[in-house]
Amino acid sequence: MRVSDGPPGPGQAEAVARANIALVKYWGKRAPRDPGANFNLPAVGSLSLTLDALSTRTRVRFDPALEADQLRLNGRDEPAAAARISRFLDIVRAAANRHVFAHVDSENNFPTGAGLASSASGFAALAAAATAALGLEPSAAELSALARRGSGSAARSIFGGFVHWHRGERDDGADSFAEPLAPATHWPLRVVVAVTDEAPKATGSTDGMTATQLTSPYFQAWVEGQDADLAEARAAVLARDFDRLADVTEYSCLKMHASAMAARPGVLYWNGATIEGLHAIRGLRAKGLPVCFTIDAGPQVKVVCLPEAEVMACETLLAVPGVKRVIASGLGAGVEVKA
Ligand code: DP6
Repeated sequence: MRVSDGPPGPGQAEAVARANIALVKYWGKRAPRDPGANFNLPAVGSLSLTLDALSTRTRVRFDPALEADQLRLNGRDEPAAAARISRFLDIVRAAANRHVFAHVDSENNFPTGAGLASSASGFAALAAAATAALGLEPSAAELSALARRGSGSAARSIFGGFVHWHRGERDDGADSFAEPLAPATHWPLRVVVAVTDEAPKATGSTDGMTATQLTSPYFQAWVEGQDADLAEARAAVLARDFDRLADVTEYSCLKMHASAMAARPGVLYWNGATIEGLHAIRGLRAKGLPVCFTIDAGPQVKVVCLPEAEVMACETLLAVPGVKRVIASGLGAGVEVKA
C-alpha cells in the first residue's frame, strides 16, 4: 500500500460507507484454522448490491495522548467491541509505520448486529477513514482487501452498485478483493428489508460459517456450486434479466441456509415471520411480480425487486404477522471520504 510522499496524513478523517446484500452469498472461509490472523479469505466468491439507505459514518482521530483505542458506537462508549476495531487498526498502523492510538466514532442509521450488514458498512468506512487519516493511498482493490480483514463482506461495500468479490487463490489475500460489476445506474433495482427482530442475533456470521464448514455435510456441495451461480448472476445482471437473477438469488440464499441448518448443532437464523415473509414473496412472484427474496445471518427478509413492484412488496411484507417495519432502498455508491 502506497504511503503518501507528503506529511504523514492529517491524523483524522471521516468516511461514509453503505451496507450491501449478497445475491450470491459468501459463506465459509478458506482457512478457518487461523482465526487470529483475521484474513477472512473466503471459501467462495460472492456478488452483492450496495444499498443507499443503510449507511455508517465513521470518524477516526489518531491522538498521541491516548494509551488505547477508544470506540464510540451510535453515541455510546463500547469497550467490548473496541478489541476488534483495535486489531483492525493495528493492520493500518503497521502499513503506515505509525504507532498511535485513535478515537473512533461510528454511527449507523440502522440497527447494529441484527443481520443488516452493519459490519460491512462499518469496516468499509473504518478502512477508508483510517488510511486517509494516516496518509496511506491504497488503490481501490487494496482498500477492499484491507476492509475484508475487518469483516469479509466489507470488501464489497468499498464499491457502489453491483459488486463481485473474488475468492482469490493466494494465502496472503492480495487477490481476494471486490470489483464493481456494474454501476447503480445500470439497473435501478429496489430492495425492501422486512425487519422481524431488532435484537442482535444469537450466532454471528463468523461463528455460523465456521460451524457450517466444520460440521455440515452440505458445505462441500455449497462450495462446488458457487462458480456456476456467480456466472449465472453476473450474466443476469449484465443482461438486466430479472427472472434469471431472481432464480439464482433465491437458490443461493436457500442453499446457504440449508447448509447452515445441517451443521451440528444446526445454525438457524429464521423466526416465524421470516418464513411467512418468504411465502408472501413467493406468492407475489407466482402472480408475475418481479420480486425475489434473500436472507443473511439473521431473521430479516430482504426483497429485491423492480421499481414497479416496490409498493406491493412493502404492503405485502407489512401485512405479515411479526414484521415490525420495512426499510426501502435503492442502490448506493461506494465508500466516500469526507474532507
Ligand atoms: C450471510 O462478512 O459478516 O451476510 O467475514 O466473518 O466478518 P466475517 O463475516 P460477514 O459474513 C456475511 C455473511 C452473509 C452473506 C454475505 O454477505 O455474502
